[in-house]
Amino acid sequence: MAESAEQEPRQLEGRVAVVTGAGRGIGAGIARVLAERGAAVVVTDIDEDAARSTAEDIVRNGGVAAGFRTDVTDRKSLAGMADSVIEKHGKIDICVPNAGVVGAPGFTERTDFTDADWDMTNDVNLRGMVNTAEVVAAHMKERRQGKIVNIASQGGRAPRGADVVLGRQLIPYLVSKAGCIQWTHLLAQDLGKYNINVNCVCPGTVWTEIWEAVAENRVATTDEYAGWTAREVYDSAIEMRHPLAVEQTPEDIGHAVAFFASDEAAEITGQALNVNAGSVLS
Ligand SMILES: NC(=O)c1ccc[n+]([C@@H]2O[C@H](COP(=O)([O-])OP(=O)(O)OC[C@H]3O[C@@H](n4cnc5c(N)ncnc54)[C@H](O)[C@@H]3O)[C@@H](O)[C@H]2O)c1
Repeated sequence: MAESAEQEPRQLEGRVAVVTGAGRGIGAGIARVLAERGAAVVVTDIDEDAARSTAEDIVRNGGVAAGFRTDVTDRKSLAGMADSVIEKHGKIDICVPNAGVVGAPGFTERTDFTDADWDMTNDVNLRGMVNTAEVVAAHMKERRQGKIVNIASQGGRAPRGADVVLGRQLIPYLVSKAGCIQWTHLLAQDLGKYNINVNCVCPGTVWTEIWEAVAENRVATTDEYAGWTAREVYDSAIEMRHPLAVEQTPEDIGHAVAFFASDEAAEITGQALNVNAGSVLS
């Protein structure tokens, strides 16, 4: 993991940030880093208890945060959250559409994708991201300023060689993440005239429930990993795939988000940045 964010300036002091899917995993790490950098963070998740717990943790550590239940597939839910935030803080400066799923229930047992996998990855990863940006961008356009940082994946880049092919069951997820990257390009073109920057971070291999599900799938469906623990599959992926041979943490992703959300990235828009220890090179 990179140096602690505690050494970084509070360059987001006075900003208001919304992070979706921040009840756990990468979203929670992003929320913690943005709060450390001085932003007031709105922690949203479909799991209300998890959202509140992340927010309480931030507050215990001296930050400013509040937790909300928000389902990114439901525009009304997003609009209600955005209205509450604007009523309380007067604005939203930073929006991080992070909520994501790897597949529909039962994914860990599958060797192929199902219609349900397509529907769920499309609804949450793509439409959910679009819904979030559209609800928040309407407000950012009025203020003629804002930063949107989507969370895509290195899996949305060109596929790697045969040694790391993960199986057909991951195809809907990988396609959805390629869509996140293209949406970032197109939205940046669309919103540039309103002084809104749109970028995305492509995480590499982070030990969260999504990666645990991928590892469990490998154990359940391939001879190669039969009898392994999910964590052993993950550790071997880190060693095999990453030139730097280190795992990425939720905070590592948060540091890249904080950069895109800062004034230092004022001239950067429409970009996709890998945070992946070199595992995919474009
Ligand atoms: N873990 C990795 O290695 C990795 C790699 C690349 C990209 N990503 C991306 O990072 C993001 C976060 O994933 P993670 O690894 O932290 O997984 P995670 O499963 O730990 O977290 C996902 C969060 O999204 C929430 N969520 C799911 N559906 C939602 C909905 N409809 N509305 C609101 N919230 C919802 C979940 O409750 C959960 O808190 C995802 O977009 C994922 O695709 C993860």
